[in-house]
Amino acid sequence: MNIVQLIREDLRNARAHDPAARGDVENAIVYSGLHAIWLHRINHALWKRGIKAPARIGAQIARALTGIEIHPGATIGRRFFIDHGMGIVIGETAEIGDGVMLYHGVTLGGQVLTQTKRHPTLGNNVTIGAGAKILGPVVIGDGSAVGANAVVTKDVPADHIATGVPAKARPRKKSEQAKLVDPDSYVDPGNYVI
Ligand SMILES: CC(C)(COP(=O)(O)OP(=O)(O)OC[C@H]1O[C@@H](n2cnc3c(N)ncnc32)[C@H](O)[C@@H]1OP(=O)(O)O)[C@@H](O)C(=O)NCCC(=O)NCCS
Repeated sequence: MNIVQLIREDLRNARAHDPAARGDVENAIVYSGLHAIWLHRINHALWKRGIKAPARIGAQIARALTGIEIHPGATIGRRFFIDHGMGIVIGETAEIGDGVMLYHGVTLGGQVLTQTKRHPTLGNNVTIGAGAKILGPVVIGDGSAVGANAVVTKDVPADHIATGVPAKARPRKKSEQAKLVDPDSYVDPGNYVI
């Protein structure tokens, strides 16, 4: 996939995830989450090639512009979407699958100060609610969601919902399989599911 196709996919993804999203040109200008992932891809490419100081500086510039701090070493898949942005921290050894969505205030952080895999791994199609903290090298399984303001320090299996402090996971019910991306789920509060 070339850069233009990737940017088109990101813009489609923004429209799919946010019913407030309008035209692509407007979205490309106003969405901090898009700016953050676009700048991260440049910073990550530099980091992987060993051009580390410019990658770190690029990440700091991105943070100043967007309020979203992504370490250039973090691995992030396709169709990554951040709604609202601001106050997000993603650590160096974090790994994020495809189709992941984060709200503002999320931390994918470490608990130790050693140069090891110390940040979370998020599977595909994971959603992390506003203010949630995922700490340590825990794994959030495919299709799972973490509730707003939860603090997660243990693995969450696939297709589970984790809430609370410390977070407790429960299987996601069949009725909760509808995607957050369905704009109808915003229009009808009774149908609101992530
Ligand atoms: C966790 C979440 C995914 C649960 O969704 P759900 O399965 O539809 O849950 P429900 O609303 O049916 O609530 C089920 C129970 O969990 C509780 N609950 C819901 N969200 C919770 C949260 N974040 N933390 C603690 N408890 C929560 C509800 O109070 C309810 O408790 P009860 O059974 O004692 O009445 C959702 O509430 C959430 O936090 N989504 C994040 C959305 C977000 O961050 N939006 C930001 C937009 S700007």
